[in-house]
Amino acid sequence: MAISTEHHPATEVRAGSRRTTARLDALVEEVREVVSRGMAPDPTAYLVAEKLVPYLGVHGARSLLTPEQHEGDPDCYRQHLLHAESDGSFSIVALVWLPGQCTPVHDHLSWCVTGVHQGEEHERRYRLLPADEPGGNARLVATEDVTNPVGAVWPFAPPGDIHKVWNGCQEKAISIHIYGADISRLGSSVRRVYDLPADC
Ligand SMILES: [Fe+2]
Repeated sequence: MAISTEHHPATEVRAGSRRTTARLDALVEEVREVVSRGMAPDPTAYLVAEKLVPYLGVHGARSLLTPEQHEGDPDCYRQHLLHAESDGSFSIVALVWLPGQCTPVHDHLSWCVTGVHQGEEHERRYRLLPADEPGGNARLVATEDVTNPVGAVWPFAPPGDIHKVWNGCQEKAISIHIYGADISRLGSSVRRVYDLPADC
């Protein structure tokens, strides 16, 4: 198994999508309040997930995203940076997935909350097993397959957050991701990409 620290191209931040809505401003305020408490990563992610739930899905004309932030890319899933806190303590992005688009297997640099805003996301989670013998290779074992509908949230913090995500539906899917890191500076929340055998 090869492990790469290179960012997947689709995780690059694209300039020009940093517009906001009143609904996003309200979410930012709620996340800011939680993060300012200075708690450990796990409880921070858990509480941020609770704050995110009411903002997911369609709520009449009160949209969380601008029309441009719903746009995908036929080549790869697309990341729109929605907010980066000025002190670097958290960031919010929207990921837009066209049918069939997927991430590589990866893990993250910081605590993270994911929430499905539109459509349905599929996720496979993995456990990293050490080599059986000196000089051998570590390997990944799939532990769980999850289908996440609109409104589903998943808070987590490294380590143990290895997964891949894809849109297995016939329609566009959009998820909101909140990271305990400055994505405007890092470009991506990905710590490592794992090159797996084809049958995993
Ligand atoms: Fe991820």
